[in-house]
Amino acid sequence: MAFNKRVKIKTILEQNPIGQEITLMGWVRTKRSNKNVSFIALNDGSVITNYQVVADPNLIAEEILKKCTTGACLKITGNVVESQGAGQSSELNAKTIEVLGEADPEKYPLQPKKHSLEFLREIAHLRMRTNTFSAVFRVRHALAFAVHKYFNDKGFFYIHTPIITASDAEGAGETFKVTTLDISKPPRTPEGEVDFKQDFFEREANLTVSGQLEGELAAMALSEIYTFGPTFRAENSNTTRHLAEFWMIEPEMAFYDAEDNADLAEDFLKYLISYALEHCQEDLKFLQSRLEEEEKSKPADQRSEMGLLDKLRFVVDNEFVRITYTEAIDILRNSNPNKKKKFQYLIESWGADLQSEHERYLVEKHFKKPVILTDYPKEIKSFYMRQNEDGKTVAAMDILFPGIGEIIGGSQREERLDLLLKRMEELHIPIEEMWWFLDTRRFGSTPHAGFGLGFERMVQFVTGMGNIRDVIAFPRTPGNAEF
Ligand code: 4AD
Ligand code: MG
Repeated sequence: MAFNKRVKIKTILEQNPIGQEITLMGWVRTKRSNKNVSFIALNDGSVITNYQVVADPNLIAEEILKKCTTGACLKITGNVVESQGAGQSSELNAKTIEVLGEADPEKYPLQPKKHSLEFLREIAHLRMRTNTFSAVFRVRHALAFAVHKYFNDKGFFYIHTPIITASDAEGAGETFKVTTLDISKPPRTPEGEVDFKQDFFEREANLTVSGQLEGELAAMALSEIYTFGPTFRAENSNTTRHLAEFWMIEPEMAFYDAEDNADLAEDFLKYLISYALEHCQEDLKFLQSRLEEEEKSKPADQRSEMGLLDKLRFVVDNEFVRITYTEAIDILRNSNPNKKKKFQYLIESWGADLQSEHERYLVEKHFKKPVILTDYPKEIKSFYMRQNEDGKTVAAMDILFPGIGEIIGGSQREERLDLLLKRMEELHIPIEEMWWFLDTRRFGSTPHAGFGLGFERMVQFVTGMGNIRDVIAFPRTPGNAEF
């Protein structure tokens, strides 16, 4: 007979099968006992709600009940009955309890009390058993599913771009090397350089920083594609918004210009948020109250004006602001924090790169809305972006979100071979190695565009979690690769 005939708590709450005998399996969150009865709050991860199990010591042996401690895993069979207590319409009267896995209360690190997020990061192998993290990961799942649904419904094709590559798409040199050479004594060329000819790929290789370049190849055949995969950056930034390993969604579309690109990005972001609002109500309500609680410890002027759900609805219901980099620089130059020298990096002239303090000023203080910033100076953007008529700017697009800063980076691509080659030369991009990329411009080139959405930053925005380490199961950051 099959072991698993259990009913999920989510199903019980939806169907309320009063009078039926069912089997539940899950982990004990809490147990309260008095002389006559024990109440066990069980959670199986299917929903945020714990399900109440009532255990009568006349039916369930004392040595079993003793083992039903926080963290233990139980299999419970019993009858669903109307609940006596408030808050839940039914509960389970236990007939039999089998302890599948004990959890020694002296040693189990998760106690039914508030643990700090920092502490929980140290026990990331267990933190999914808390309300906060189970909610975050259910929302993360829903968003990932919504990404595929959105593009599939629109006729985009999902392309799996390579994780190991020999190129650095962003040209920022922040790659992790992939090698099978013995790094303590690598083979050398006569000139004394490491001889990568003897390495696995017979050349230098690294983990991908973006699937875009391969995505462009696919868009030149399938018209509209997207990638959704892991991305690796060895940037040494210990911030609440950077990971060394993160997931990125990169749509790439033939026959799209910069405006089409921005339209798609705005529609996509709104779709994802709406999807979460529709499908993750209870988790989002819980995360909203968690956030409210967290904000109580902040000074009044740093608390957000809107609750999480209102903030999400606001983004869905309002048009994003669209301005150029040049307009943004004017706003920033004349802003109070710039005049009063409150910015760490003062905006003095056109051409300055925008720091997250500037992005957040624009979004949180000035416009109080998501902002699509376009047409950046070519010097601060990647080689592949389409050069504008003015000779100074490129058809770049960054989307800035409240509390997050940059959530999307993208552009219309330079489809004109001569201009692309010229820019690659200026930036010392290895043109010969990129022959395959350049072939798209040699054969059947067309205007096209795309963008990259940082998936964890999106999950942060939707869940209201302040630190990116708390929206990916096992974060990789400088100095951290545990689990
Ligand atoms: O702006 P980025 O670097 O753009 C690209 O990689 C392009 N190839 C995308 C494209 O046009 N197809 O990165 C895109 C997004 C950022 O806006 C940010 O949300 C996220 O990826 N991101 C990170 N997220 C977490 N940790 C990091 N270290 C990140 N770096 C970028
Ligand atoms: Mg960027």
